[in-house]
Amino acid sequence: MATVIREAPETVNPLDVSRAELWREDRWQEPMRRLRAESPIHYCEDSKFGPYWSVTTYKPIQHVEALPKIFSSSWEYGGITVAGDGVEHLQEGEVPMPMFIAMDPPQHTAQRRTVAPAFGPSETERMRADTLKRTSDVLDSLPVGEPFDWVEKLSIELTTQMLAILFDFPWEERHKLTAWSDALGDIESFNTAEERQQRLAIAYEMGAAFKELWDRKAQNPGQHDLISIMLQSDAMSHMSHEEFMGNLILLIVGGNDTTRNSMSAYAYGLHQFPEERAKLEANHDPDLAVNAMHEILRWQTPLAHMRRTATEDTELFGHQIRKRDKIALWYASANRDESVFPDGDRIIVDRENARRHLAFGYGIHRCVGARVAELQLTALISEMQKRRLRVNVLAEPERVNACFVHGYRHMQVELERY
Ligand code: HEM
Repeated sequence: MATVIREAPETVNPLDVSRAELWREDRWQEPMRRLRAESPIHYCEDSKFGPYWSVTTYKPIQHVEALPKIFSSSWEYGGITVAGDGVEHLQEGEVPMPMFIAMDPPQHTAQRRTVAPAFGPSETERMRADTLKRTSDVLDSLPVGEPFDWVEKLSIELTTQMLAILFDFPWEERHKLTAWSDALGDIESFNTAEERQQRLAIAYEMGAAFKELWDRKAQNPGQHDLISIMLQSDAMSHMSHEEFMGNLILLIVGGNDTTRNSMSAYAYGLHQFPEERAKLEANHDPDLAVNAMHEILRWQTPLAHMRRTATEDTELFGHQIRKRDKIALWYASANRDESVFPDGDRIIVDRENARRHLAFGYGIHRCVGARVAELQLTALISEMQKRRLRVNVLAEPERVNACFVHGYRHMQVELERY
């Protein structure tokens, strides 16, 4: 991704929802409500990331995602976050790392196929017993009645374990996966040439570790982990080294913050709505746990937006879009669209249509890891129920300072038995 370093505009535009402070301070809901009511397809003329369109309601987001030829995800145009700029803006020290989330058909189709089998229904089912066991072990290691950081001790730990298993990464070194992912996925802090050099160094360190893993896998074929599955795929032989690295980063970064923040949302969200938590405590029906999992994903929306770029002049519901305009698709807002999810600011664990949420996106780029992520979160809900454990949040959490990853850095909690 190329990044142009810009100053934030001098005057604050209340409808510029890309401002990181709105997300850090959990104040994004009101401007989004205004956008949905007054201007669901809205042009923001100036922002830290330059001008961009905001799409904030459910149907228009589906519409844009269904037209990838006109609304591109390509890294050459600047990729999938509102922060990115086209390759013509590449800065010194920036190396494009193409990944299939930031490609259009036909490249996207071929490369997605190299990893999709690892996330299919049978592979996910194979992970179930192990996921439940790991979730149990982590929960049993936590103190009851004593404060601790839920993000660090539970969300990060369980997510890191999930990634290590997906990649068959050396278990004792698994925390490196999270460190790399945190460093490479942080879109707001690679502004200076020095910061970009640091990023490159991290990417190379990760590359060297995966090269080793790759060599080992190549000698031991027929396994089910992600690297083995990529190695066995036909499209792999057409992938450049940069593309292979880019896709590895995508798989690590894509699964990391998102799964982590959905687990933190379980704790924070249910603490905000104790009557909903009580429903889950009183009723251990697995279908309710699954519905609650969808509802928590809807309410949190761990990636607040994805971005597309117009490849041609076009019209979008009466608005004139020009070639190369940036278009932010705000899933966080569509998941609170009053016409689809009444009273959407509330978690309702038995909400009828919770599974219609757009937290995994829509269309050809819809999250490839969705089933695996759903399994992790449902396992957490059901293992908490089994232990009759409740999380009480002790203080307002510290939140991520960005308009892309939507989540929590630290959250002090205490566990209680009911
Ligand atoms: C794509 C969300 C977990 C890997 C996406 C997209 C979203 C998303 C919004 C883009 C969809 C679009 O552009 O239409 C989430 C959420 C997760 C999660 C909320 C957890 C709660 C995971 C996991 C993995 C993963 C566990 C893998 C380990 C990917 C990949 C893509 C993707 C590879 C690109 C798909 C493509 O371009 O075809 N995810 N994700 N995600 N996600 Fe996830």
